[in-house]
Amino acid sequence: MEEVREHLLLAVEPEVENGIKLQPPPPDTCKFRIRGLSRTSDAGVPILSKIDLDIPRGKIVGIIGPSGSGKSTLLRALNRLWEPPAGTVFMDGHDICSLDVLTLRRKVGMLFQLPVMFEGTVADNIRYGPQLRGKKLSDSEIQKLLSLADLDSSFMEKKGGDLSVGQAQRVALARTLANEPDVVLLDEPTSALDPISTQNIEDVLVKLKNSSRRMTVVMVSHSIKQIQRVADAVCLLVNGEIVEVLSPDSLSQSKHPMAVRFLQLSS
Ligand SMILES: Nc1ncnc2c1ncn2[C@@H]1O[C@H](COP(=O)(O)OP(=O)(O)OP(=O)(O)O)[C@@H](O)[C@H]1O
Ligand SMILES: [Mg+2]
Repeated sequence: MEEVREHLLLAVEPEVENGIKLQPPPPDTCKFRIRGLSRTSDAGVPILSKIDLDIPRGKIVGIIGPSGSGKSTLLRALNRLWEPPAGTVFMDGHDICSLDVLTLRRKVGMLFQLPVMFEGTVADNIRYGPQLRGKKLSDSEIQKLLSLADLDSSFMEKKGGDLSVGQAQRVALARTLANEPDVVLLDEPTSALDPISTQNIEDVLVKLKNSSRRMTVVMVSHSIKQIQRVADAVCLLVNGEIVEVLSPDSLSQSKHPMAVRFLQLSS
């Protein structure tokens, strides 16, 4: 835990201190490196301001902050749903702007607040991504993916449109996992779900992190309790700036006034 915290804190501290250049963390522990990421709206309003952050491999990182603070924009930069400026976001040491965008989005899957099912059955939905790459998933592979997302094989032939939101969110997760991603980005994935479906999704995320895949998970959430349940580290974003990076159990030690207010109101 401490290691993750220090690793992340390194990113928000100056890289040169007292004339001594801090050593970057070893590349094998860093999945994303974000440096000087800024975005301004067409009207000239800052959306993200000089974000510096390292996201460690194989951990769950939570992003919290008030509405409009730039959480979704930051998340979307990681798979170029919003195109970041070149030289600001690196995955495994490579500038993501220089990677093929479809390959990047296969490796960096994303789940939104409300799942959107494609036409057809659950199995059709899960087959979709691999099929685009010319790979046909067998029934047993689909069953494994369903089971990974905490759904039994009886769902295979159900129509996507006949599912509850909680079931559809788990199918959307299985569909993302079918692409064998290294990273899953989640933008308030459980805010429309009941507590049991929420717990199912949280359990799956922890399972993926602990599996041999060592999945990296970056999750935006308005629920401090959820972040405390699953995250290894949490970034507080206020007005487009990362004001603190903390361990989930020391959130109460946050010092930024806006962050303190947000945390008090959310708890
Ligand atoms: N395409 C865009 N054009 C102009 N402004 C935008 C655009 N996308 C986002 N913004 C602005 O950027 C700011 C941050 O938006 P963002 O959606 O990232 O916030 P958020 O922290 O995810 O908020 P919420 O918690 O409400 O989802 C907001 O003020 C928003 O209006
Ligand atoms: Mg958002």
